[in-house]
Amino acid sequence: MTTENHMIVLLGSTGDLAKRKIIPALYQLFRKAQVSVQCPIVCLGRREYTKEQFIEHLELSRFIKKSDPQLIEQLTTQIVYIQQDLKTFAPEVLKQQFDQIAQTYKCSSNKLFYLALPASVFSQAADIIQLFSGDEGWLRVVFEKPFGDDLASAEELNNSITSVLQEEQIYRVDHYLGKELVQNIFTLRFHNELFRWAWHCEAIDHVQITASEELGVEDRAGYYDKSGAVRDMIQNHLLQLLSLTAMEPPLSNDPEEIRNRTGEVIQSLIPVHQDDVVLGQYEGYTDENGVDSNSTTETFAAFKVYIDMPRWQGVPFYLKTGKKLDERYADIKVVFKHNDELCNTGDCDQPNVVVIRIQPDDGIAIAFNVKRPGRSMITEPVLMDFCHHCHFGPNTPEAYESILLNVMQGEPTAFARWDWIKNSWKFVDHLRQAAQPPYIYSQGSTGPAESDALAQRSGRHWIHGEISPRRSQQQTQILPSVS
Ligand code: BG6
Repeated sequence: MTTENHMIVLLGSTGDLAKRKIIPALYQLFRKAQVSVQCPIVCLGRREYTKEQFIEHLELSRFIKKSDPQLIEQLTTQIVYIQQDLKTFAPEVLKQQFDQIAQTYKCSSNKLFYLALPASVFSQAADIIQLFSGDEGWLRVVFEKPFGDDLASAEELNNSITSVLQEEQIYRVDHYLGKELVQNIFTLRFHNELFRWAWHCEAIDHVQITASEELGVEDRAGYYDKSGAVRDMIQNHLLQLLSLTAMEPPLSNDPEEIRNRTGEVIQSLIPVHQDDVVLGQYEGYTDENGVDSNSTTETFAAFKVYIDMPRWQGVPFYLKTGKKLDERYADIKVVFKHNDELCNTGDCDQPNVVVIRIQPDDGIAIAFNVKRPGRSMITEPVLMDFCHHCHFGPNTPEAYESILLNVMQGEPTAFARWDWIKNSWKFVDHLRQAAQPPYIYSQGSTGPAESDALAQRSGRHWIHGEISPRRSQQQTQILPSVS
């Protein structure tokens, strides 16, 4: 389906995000004829590039997988580059340039602004956007994370953008919400009776949500050292996963109803107790380029949280993220209660676990017990597995593709609403205050030992690693014991 005719305006177009994610995603939409071929992609950047230099800078054949030269050629004819410093722009000149471009391309006055910029210049970008707020047609504006550094700065930012935009014009990106398996959490829970009925405190013992990374800060130390894992990953991605996992069934598919439900979860989080949060910093972090040598920024965070909703009474949610860990994966493991009454052979059942594998091997797995062959009643846990790319093929849209398409279609469900952001910052500000300074952990480990102790204190333990049959030939090794 082609979207309505509209102009795309990319602010911060010479940055990394634009060339690694946004332009390649636009190419894929273009390839699938999901983006209007009539309208231009107007790229604003500070660098003094000619259009040719800008296109060269984008390194299209490097960042677009299996690109077709003819399509690349077509895409580049739609790109217009305007050198513009946000601090010094002349409103009238810019407006005229835009009008001229719209006329040349015979484009409607619908506009999608994508702010691939640091939040510190959002208010300057707002001055540009304001020039078009009286135009006919729709105006939608996409904001990248981080949306603030704490509650106070997020509120300030929100006040400044809502002074020129309505909430329904604002799309706050969380790229995790564009991931295919994240979108599948909703389907799994609400389109399958099997899971719908089992998803509550009487059946579930606890939930583990993990985003583990092998990479370190790389070349983002300037940003990361001021942010840390809690603000970089927990406030947005992991709390969104938690919200989708724990939300009540919506009464309809209306985006606002769905966002009411996820908003309810974030508002019902019980502030974390100081003993239930562990921060870590990988060994050698302070030697990284651009990191303060006395930095106490955390590169790892793990905590336990309860949700004050009848569905989740007494069910702890364990969340964990970190850089330079042993493995790259993100998943949600829902661990069910299990019955020990029949456990008289010394070989006890393992709890059922539903694993939503977000990456890298996206899919869903269910661990359950079967009887070993023979006369004895000894049981063994096995895995029933759905592999997304084995079933649907390898061309699942990238997160940014689905994000852009949603904005073009005016579909806000996969974007954070202000009330969600506000409550996530409230929770995270408290968590950061409650936390002790970070423990040092070895690179390539699963994080500081203290985070294991955090789970063990309530008789549980982390199920480390991605659970996927494609990782090992031996199923018994796939499924770590989860007593
Ligand atoms: C970003 C964080 O939002 O998400 C990065 O700023 C992190 O620090 C990245 O590496 C992880 O995203 P993904 O899609 O690779 O899991």
